[in-house]
Amino acid sequence: MQEHNSSLVIELSYSDLVIDVGVVTLGEDNRKKMQKTQKNEEREKVAQAACALLNSGGGVIRLEMANKDDHPVEPGLDLEASWRELIQSSDLHTFFETKQQGRCFYIFVKSWSREPFPEDSSTKPRICSSSSFLYCRSGTSALLMNSTEAFKFLKTKKRAAERRPVNEGAPPRKILTAVCHNISESDLAFHIFQRDRLEHGEILHLPESHLVEFKQFSTKNIEKYVKETIPKYISAFANGEGGYLFLGVEDKTKKVLGCVKENVNRDSLEKVIATAISKLPIFHFCSSKAHVGYETKIQDVFLEGELYSYFCVIRVKPFCCAVFAEAPISWMVKEKQVCKLTTEEWVEMTMDPDPLTFIFFPELTEDFESQLSLSSGPPLCKPVYSSKGLEHKEDLQQHLFPVPLGHLQYTPESLWKELCSEHEGLEELLSKEMRPFSRGILILSRSWAVDLNLPAKQGVICEALLIAEHSPPILHTILREQDMDGQRYCTNTALTLKQKLVNMGGYTKKVCVKTRVLCLSTKTHVEPLQGSAFPIDYPLSYSFANTLHMDAFLQSLAVVLLGFRSFLSDQLGCEILNLLTLQQYEIFSKNLCKSRELFVHGLPGSGKTIMAVKIMEKIRNMFHCEANRILYICENKPLQDFISKKNICQAVTRKAFMKEDFENIQHIIIDEAQNFRTENGDWYNKAKAITQREKDHPGILWIFLDYFQTSHLDCSGLPLLSAQYPREELTRVVRNADKIAYYLRDKLHEIRRKPPPNIPSMSLEMLPEVEWVRGVQGTLKIKKDLTRDQVVTYVTDTCRGLFERGYSPRDVAVLVSTQSEVEYYEYELLRAMRKKRIVQLSNAYDILGDHIVLDSVRRFSGLERNVVFGIHPKTADPAILPNLLACLASRAKQQLYILWLGDC
Ligand SMILES: *[C@@H]1O[C@H](CO)[C@@H](O)[C@H](O)[C@H]1NC(C)=O
Ligand SMILES: [Zn+2]
Repeated sequence: MQEHNSSLVIELSYSDLVIDVGVVTLGEDNRKKMQKTQKNEEREKVAQAACALLNSGGGVIRLEMANKDDHPVEPGLDLEASWRELIQSSDLHTFFETKQQGRCFYIFVKSWSREPFPEDSSTKPRICSSSSFLYCRSGTSALLMNSTEAFKFLKTKKRAAERRPVNEGAPPRKILTAVCHNISESDLAFHIFQRDRLEHGEILHLPESHLVEFKQFSTKNIEKYVKETIPKYISAFANGEGGYLFLGVEDKTKKVLGCVKENVNRDSLEKVIATAISKLPIFHFCSSKAHVGYETKIQDVFLEGELYSYFCVIRVKPFCCAVFAEAPISWMVKEKQVCKLTTEEWVEMTMDPDPLTFIFFPELTEDFESQLSLSSGPPLCKPVYSSKGLEHKEDLQQHLFPVPLGHLQYTPESLWKELCSEHEGLEELLSKEMRPFSRGILILSRSWAVDLNLPAKQGVICEALLIAEHSPPILHTILREQDMDGQRYCTNTALTLKQKLVNMGGYTKKVCVKTRVLCLSTKTHVEPLQGSAFPIDYPLSYSFANTLHMDAFLQSLAVVLLGFRSFLSDQLGCEILNLLTLQQYEIFSKNLCKSRELFVHGLPGSGKTIMAVKIMEKIRNMFHCEANRILYICENKPLQDFISKKNICQAVTRKAFMKEDFENIQHIIIDEAQNFRTENGDWYNKAKAITQREKDHPGILWIFLDYFQTSHLDCSGLPLLSAQYPREELTRVVRNADKIAYYLRDKLHEIRRKPPPNIPSMSLEMLPEVEWVRGVQGTLKIKKDLTRDQVVTYVTDTCRGLFERGYSPRDVAVLVSTQSEVEYYEYELLRAMRKKRIVQLSNAYDILGDHIVLDSVRRFSGLERNVVFGIHPKTADPAILPNLLACLASRAKQQLYILWLGDC
């Protein structure tokens, strides 16, 4: 049995994954002289490290040369062959480079990706492996599939499983008929299989073929022999068309010899075979739980009328999916450990993610554009999508990080000015550092760690990432005072940056991030502490060669900085990244210390809730804050539940907020504040008092609101508009399909013309600045004069049509106006849908469950669905109706149906 974790360890003092494999003999001449076992052991150790690095974003293998050659050496043919096996290509240089430094020998490993093989990228697996342990029949032998063949084989099996009706584990018909082609051969084999006795020395008149394999019992330890020999034949037969394995025939002469009865016990032989076969790892793409199908027959062999030996035949049936001789071997770095993938992980990682998920999820193909496709990305990369009509990563990069033509640009300029005025000597210190670089971009941040979702460090003034021609990227950490821990911190940030660039940003070129720690008080570079790691000298290919090279890096960097886990990931069950808009990113990258209080006015569908979540993550990292110190307040329970599940904060409704003290809380984020009321007290001053409890370190209080979506005529308790300062606006509407956006726009204009009395009309002035992001067609249907029965029928029939087209119940919300209507329609819709065998309903409490949401428009505020039915939206006072309609329309991403009842 293979153990799961490798004995190899990741060195922690580098800004890259570095694996030290210990002493290895290098040079072809030296390796030729080695003992076989030691040679294999060394080769496997290095291959294991290489495989883990290829699959985990790349890194460096360090080894100590056993031989003391001081001239540069070639590693050795067997070592290089094992690396070629991993990448399934003879082009080693694309992924591996080597370098000798004294007694140390370094192997630089780039992340695996299929990008260098554009013409046959679809034939390459998504990860590298040392062995698939999948066998197939080739003529008269059982062959181990290399990983390219294994990938092809698995794809075929997967496609076949998808075409078979559900719950039918039987192998595809095609294979069964294939068996019949060789009627004579398999009949002959079957005939022998059926016999009860054979004569010693009898010649079997049956050729070896892809269905027939002859083996002799060639040792005395029969059980051990069987255990070790049969797996590959069973795997090969089961993965193909089935077949017969005859044990006890002399290969060449086909003479029956059997195994002498003194050496073997009939029952135990049968048991050994059963155990060996039951241990073979299998993988099903289909829903069958079946194991390998086979029959064993042990026949008596007579010599001169006396029982002399036993002859054994195993008849293997073709298997629906994949049978391995042993668990496949591939490695990956997980939490700084080199781990072996399980068989299930291996199959999942080898295969491309199921395109069906995407086809059956119309939203991804209709509303989103792929920014990063999986087909050429590194193994750990997630798909990245951005809403249609928004900037592509190329545009984002050109806007955020344009590479200048002939000089070194510091960016963002405003931050650089701010930092220089705050810290005397900073300008001088950095410009001295930058003297050798003439072309590129220096990206400043108060904390690169926070930008990468890591905790900030006290005493760091700022950090600067240098992207310059003829240099690798260099991350500079500038400390106020000398700090023992500065280098370790900078190294860790650089490592995270490198890994995110590859595994999240999809960067496929060779990359390392160097570190440099500077200290402002001594105006010098801080030498790494004694005893800390000797820097690794990377090959030239790790430096930026030209502008294109820098652009590619900066595009991946934009994905890393603007990417966030899409709310869709929860629905899809696989991780999808979306990108922030530039407007959102600008607010997100504000210096929190200088924007402790902020009002964010965001139009419907401009991403307020996404921003609220991102800001809470940032607060956590910047101030080293636990979830119990950050409070999220909103008006309605469904949104509160949705945010609670993210585990980054405590989430309450306004009512609950007014009941308790919240002594632990330091920071408060308020969402949908336009719907707040003063009925339970002055929530604004309470929130303000809490965040200002600590005089020297006031907390963050950010308030997100949208006056257009006000749902009542009472006092909201917000300060006067003129006192809502500082204030930012989100004016890019990214959520709704075009037709819904037009309807929404009309409603917003209506509100602006005739605002309800409790809304400051100045607050609606932002409307002309709205930017409607276009690109998704969508559906808007408005029906009038319906009866309640007709409404029920309309919703039921439309849903059935949607589900037949691949939408799921969790894409749909049915929104009404009052609680009594919720009850009425819950009963009626359930009855109608049950009759037509459609689905279950629930209210918005269970927003992530797999069912249709039925709730009131008000309570559903702040949430969204692909398809929304609004049934007779009404308000007690008509003055507020356009606001309610705007709120309703804004919930719908793709399809909106507004159903009005006739006079009743
Ligand atoms: C994998 O095996 C197939 C069939 O034996 C062979 O054609 C192919 O070249 C092999 N691939 C590699 C990369 O060795
Ligand atoms: Zn199966």
